[in-house]
Amino acid sequence: MISYSTDVSALAEDDLGGFFVGWPAPPSRAQHLAVLRGSYRVVIARSDSTVVGFVNMISDGVLTAFIPWLEVLPEFQGQGVGTELVRRILAEAEQMYSVDLICDEELKPFYERLGMTAWTGMMLRNRDAIRSLPGRASAGEGRP
Ligand SMILES: CC(C)(COP(=O)(O)OP(=O)(O)OC[C@H]1O[C@@H](n2cnc3c(N)ncnc32)[C@H](O)[C@@H]1OP(=O)(O)O)[C@@H](O)C(=O)NCCC(=O)NCCS
Repeated sequence: MISYSTDVSALAEDDLGGFFVGWPAPPSRAQHLAVLRGSYRVVIARSDSTVVGFVNMISDGVLTAFIPWLEVLPEFQGQGVGTELVRRILAEAEQMYSVDLICDEELKPFYERLGMTAWTGMMLRNRDAIRSLPGRASAGEGRP
């Protein structure tokens, strides 16, 4: 039984294990928590008390929103959790003009099923920035 919440006020670093699978330099749990707390909206999926998925949204609060991160723990994937997380965070932004995100080619059908449209985009990444964020101790910290 999966439950969903938009309230991250009681979330702790220890609740956030096992995410950022495959990232060469993942954010620490402290950074992950800070990102969620600093986001415009967040939806968390829990199985009992374990956080098994999350999605966050940043926004100007008026017309424009962006979804930077969506992840479901590997052992909980393929059960509809990611779909429900996106559905719920899009509902949080239904008054917005634009909600954008960047995804891999193979995930386009996933987002199209949720009403989104494939488009072109541009990006810039400073991979050193994630390593130098406050609270980051080492590349492996925050991983199980
Ligand atoms: C993408 C992700 C959030 C989907 O979560 P989920 O809970 O597994 O999604 P759902 O169960 O709601 O939907 C599953 C469907 O998503 C699609 N899907 C999920 N991951 C996919 C992938 N890597 N490639 C192609 N399709 C994928 C499939 O169509 C799948 O359908 P199926 O179960 O019939 O095979 C999850 O796979 C994940 O955390 N991946 C790693 C992080 C990531 O890629 N995040 C997205 C950043 S844009």
